[in-house]
Amino acid sequence: MKAQDVVLKARAAGKCIPAFNIPHIPMVRPIIKAIADENSVAMVQVARVEWEKMSAQSLERVAEEYHKYQDDKHTLLHLDHIPAGDEDYQRVDYVSYLKRAVNAGYQSVMIDGSRLSLDENIRVTAEAVAIAHEANIPCEAELGAVMGHENRQLPPYEEIFASKMGFTDVEEAAKFAAESCCDWLSVAAGNIHGAVAEAVRNQKKPEARLDIEHIAALYRATGIPLVLHGGSGIQRQYILDAIVAGVAKINVGTELRQTYEFALEEKPGDIAYAQDCVYRACRNYIANYLMNTDLRDKIVHQQIGQGA
Ligand code: 13P
Repeated sequence: MKAQDVVLKARAAGKCIPAFNIPHIPMVRPIIKAIADENSVAMVQVARVEWEKMSAQSLERVAEEYHKYQDDKHTLLHLDHIPAGDEDYQRVDYVSYLKRAVNAGYQSVMIDGSRLSLDENIRVTAEAVAIAHEANIPCEAELGAVMGHENRQLPPYEEIFASKMGFTDVEEAAKFAAESCCDWLSVAAGNIHGAVAEAVRNQKKPEARLDIEHIAALYRATGIPLVLHGGSGIQRQYILDAIVAGVAKINVGTELRQTYEFALEEKPGDIAYAQDCVYRACRNYIANYLMNTDLRDKIVHQQIGQGA
């Protein structure tokens, strides 16, 4: 399967590809098994923050674990959030990470220039797109502020939503997509990331809402598949409506990370138990929360994987 074909076919069918984050290496195996056992098509992904601040170790280590268990009919390997400037406002050598990801066999990558000015974000993203396309893989980018990864305390969620804080601007999105040539665009329209800062990452994530009209306007303006970050803890109906509006990939991190970490708190050292909890939570997310049976039937590899 090629990631670009899979996402475009999902979009054409009005479906969505889930992408599950790997903050801890033992999560790779149960997530792949859950995806295959649900007969779904989904991505396994890791973001820089997960090897810097959690225990994913490195992008190469995640790729190594992925390649042990990969299931080519059902799974793809994606590099999530490589920030041009990170959540601590440090510059990041994104070019080197992207090249390492290509060498390690990642099938798609993300550059995150969302903390930069529009022009800088376009410049950095175009540079990342060139590296990805040279390797014949697609590149996701981000415009707007999907909050939650910062170390500072966020305003109450309802305030963020009501004031449309950080929402991706529609006109900027049109310019950004046309000039950066990114393949998929991560947008902000009420979605927020689960916290990653050590002191707050165990807290329950606020239940986010989505501005579906805004997502539809962004899709009309850009014409490329949209990506919904912060997929944990959004009401199911919002997600289903967002898929109709233009979202073709949804990132899920906190929900499975907390499942794994809480299981280890319950039974310290019992990795097999924590893996089993992740397996069941991942199956549950695919089957009951994100996709009903009808959606799953349409997203299976007969439609999306074949010929890709
Ligand atoms: P959540 O942790 O909120 O599910 O978000 C994951 C994500 O968007 C990773 O890029």
